[in-house]
Formats: sequence, structure tokens, C-alpha cells
Amino acid sequence: MTVKSEKLAITIVGTGYVGLTTGIALAYLGHRVTCVDNNPEVVEKLKKGMATIYEPGVEELLVEAAANLSFSENLLDSLPDSDVVVIAVGTPAKYNGDTDLTYVENVAREIGASIAPEKFLVVVNKSTVPIGTASRVDTVIKEELRKRGLEGNYSVASNPEFLREGAALHDTFYPDRIVIGANELQAVNVLRQMYAPILEQTFTPPRSAPRPENYGMPAFVTTAPTSAELIKYASNAFLAMKISFINEFSGIAERVGADIREVAKGIGLDKRIGSGFLNAGVGWGGSCFPKDTRSILFTGKQYGVDMPITSAAVEINHKQRKRIVEKLQVALKVIRGSTIGILGLAFKPNTDDIRESPAIEIIAELLDMGASIKVYDPVALENYRQHFPHQDITYASTVEETARESDALVLLTDWEHFLHVPWQDLAETMRQAIFIDGRNYLSGEEMQNYGFTYLGIGC
Ligand SMILES: NC(=O)c1ccc[n+]([C@@H]2O[C@H](COP(=O)([O-])OP(=O)(O)OC[C@H]3O[C@@H](n4cnc5c(N)ncnc54)[C@H](O)[C@@H]3O)[C@@H](O)[C@H]2O)c1
Repeated sequence: MTVKSEKLAITIVGTGYVGLTTGIALAYLGHRVTCVDNNPEVVEKLKKGMATIYEPGVEELLVEAAANLSFSENLLDSLPDSDVVVIAVGTPAKYNGDTDLTYVENVAREIGASIAPEKFLVVVNKSTVPIGTASRVDTVIKEELRKRGLEGNYSVASNPEFLREGAALHDTFYPDRIVIGANELQAVNVLRQMYAPILEQTFTPPRSAPRPENYGMPAFVTTAPTSAELIKYASNAFLAMKISFINEFSGIAERVGADIREVAKGIGLDKRIGSGFLNAGVGWGGSCFPKDTRSILFTGKQYGVDMPITSAAVEINHKQRKRIVEKLQVALKVIRGSTIGILGLAFKPNTDDIRESPAIEIIAELLDMGASIKVYDPVALENYRQHFPHQDITYASTVEETARESDALVLLTDWEHFLHVPWQDLAETMRQAIFIDGRNYLSGEEMQNYGFTYLGIGC
């Protein structure tokens, strides 16, 4: 079905990894977009055309889409005229695994206080939120409207986001599917219109996100809000489980002398399984998998539903961090007094995001055991230094500096940068040339030839 490609007025609330990417992509597609953030520093930088996150292509697209984009600290500047408002604020985990909805509810309250009396508005929840949040957002908006003596003309829909940091623009322009959970057809139709250029691929690809060859049309999945909310958690739990599955098998591969990379290739060729998310290593981190698995386990507990597969995925992931420390103990014998160089602080390459990065847990444990730590990351170093200042951490500016006089190097993020390091020159600068490859990223054979004692995960 071809949809009228009328341009919409859209307000995006929260301009982090999801909100900023979504906002500039929709502006590039011709919609009139206002990105709202309550952090004045963020808004000020964006107004100057400066990206506030490290995400490939975002800075270029900010410039390309500038004519349709504006930034504000105040929802009232754009909301009354908007056709759609997208909630894209953070939903961090509480101490007990439940999701903290404070930011989402604050935005819902502001929406209720700013909504125009007559104009139809679709309120879209793009943040990852527990089941029932669409209803909760509706309730909060209604309460605010009641205070104003209004009923409002709006509909709340759920539109979970599946983008990957590091490939956020690509995933926004060329998604596998767009999921809309809505109770009203009018809301579905507006959102179909908002996504029409993507659904029909009618736009000229931006230079920073070329259309992949053989890319088909994305599926448009419409369902109830509750199912849409659960689709997001099920997707993330499944992907986390796939990684934990191969990590579980990496343990047995190590013991029997098999190579987990060959095993992953052998099973991934089965189309029913697929090759994605089968890289054994130090495990998953980031702002989504850890909190989302915890959140759905919390929901399961609330409903008395056992979720042993998701639980095991979390537990195995935790063990992968421990395995790195155990490998160091075996290789170095004594950790106390050693200097260990950590290569990679971002939770994955092509981002400066360190939230729940494996490096955090591993470094904390090594410091507790009395090691001195050197750290290096091509992009996330400053972010890490700000969040984790420590007297026993040296923040190195090159891989060479990290290696010098260290007893071991541990690669934790598979940055392409590490493929181009002159490793052949580095082993002899170290006190002991032990190399733990937490991502199975480099060639073990080459590293051994360069004089390293190389240890991968499951190989
Ligand atoms: N980061 C990802 O890869 C990803 C992928 C899919 C889904 N998600 C989900 O999307 C949501 C947003 O994630 P993110 O990583 O973009 O978050 P983020 O922390 O990078 O950005 C959130 C932004 O919201 C702003 N904010 C908070 N309260 C506000 C308010 N009342 N008004 C205006 N702005 C406000 C903050 O200042 C911040 O800039 C989360 O629920 C997350 O789980 C994230």
C-alpha cells in the first residue's frame, strides 16, 4: 500500500542515541522536526551543529537535515503544533531490576500540560518500557489534561526501537521491521505516514548511510501496545541468549580443544539459527541488554512466571567477565603488583558509550586484586576517565603506551583500530607479553609469531 507522503510536524523528547538519530533521520526525510532535551548543554551544542554523541554519520546528517531541524529545551515551543511526539528518554534500571520510569512519566506530564485542545496528536513511546507503560503514559496525560479542564485529542502508541549503537543511522533508514503497538487506527495511519519514506524506500540515501545492496522493504508490524512492548524485550533477551549460548559452548570448546569460531561458523550456516550474535567473547554490555534482561526477569517475577533461559543468559554473561580474570590468574600466577593494559573501554566498537561495558567490571575486580591498570580506547577514553577516575589507572593515549612495561594486555572492544597496530614491535616492550583477546578479534597465530602468549575465548 502506497501512503501519501505528507510531511508531519514531529517533536522528539530526549536527544540521546535514540532521540537524536531518529530526529535527524526524520528531518532528512522531509518532516519538520524539533528535538527537545532538558539538558541545556546538549541543546546548545546541537544548535551549533555539533553532535552530542559519537555515532558514525550523525554530525554530517545534522548539517544535511538542518533546514528541517530545530532544537529546544522547552516542549511548549513545538508540541501544540505537532502531529507526533516521540518519547525517547532514558529508562534506567532500578536497584531491584525494575525499570525507572521517572523520565518517561515526567515527559508524559509535560505533554499533558502542553497538548493543544483540539489538534490530533500521536504520543509515541520509543523508549524501552515495561509492559503497560503505554497505558500508564495515557493515564498521566489524562490527569494533566483534567487539571486544565480539557479532554484532549490524542492517542498513545508504542514504537519500540531496535537500532544498534555504532550503526544507528543505517538501522534507522534500513530497518528489518517497524513495530507499532496502537489501539486506534488513526494513530497507526499517522505513524505509517511518518515512516512512509522508509517503508517505501523513496528517499535518496544520505552519504553517511548508503542503502545496502539487496535491501528489501521493511515489514510494518501493527499490534496491540502490550505486544509491541513485549516484542522489544523478547528481541533483546533472544539476542543476549544467543551470545550467552555461544559463550557457554566456548567453555566446553576450550576444554576439549575445539575452536569456538569454527563451531559458530558451522552452526550459523544453518538458516534456522543464523550467523549473527554468535561471537564468543567477554559477553554483552551496553545500555540495553543488561537492563532489559533484568527488567523482563523482574516482570516475570511479578507475574510468577519462571524465565530460566533469560536468567541463564544473564548468569553466563557475568561468568564471562570472571573468565578473563581467571585467565589472567593462570597466565600471570599473581595479579597483585602486575600492570595490566586494557584495550577497549566502549561496550562495543564505533561508540563512546561505556554503559555496562565489560571493561568496568573487569577493571574493578583487577584493581581489587591489587593490579595497576592502564587503559586505552580510541574514542571512549575521556568518557571513561570522567566516570571512573582512579589513582591506580593510567589513561594511555596509544596502544604502544599501554603495552610498555605491562605484564599483560586484554582486548575488550573489537575496534578496527586494533587491526592496524604494529603488534610485531610491541611484545618486546612488555614485561611479560601475555595477550588475552576477549573478542577473538586478532589472529592468534600471528600474535604468537610476534612473540605474544595469546589466549582467546574458546579457541
Ligand atoms: N541506546 C540504544 O542503543 C537504544 C536502542 C534501542 C532502544 N533504546 C532505548 O531508548 C531509550 C533512550 O535511550 P538512549 O540511549 O537514547 O538514552 P540517552 O540516555 O542517550 O538519552 C536520553 C536523553 O533524554 C534526555 N531527557 C531526560 N529527561 C528528559 C525530559 N524530561 N525532557 C527532555 N529530555 C529529557 C536526557 O537529557 C538525554 O539527553 C531507552 O529507553 C533505551 O532503553 C536505546
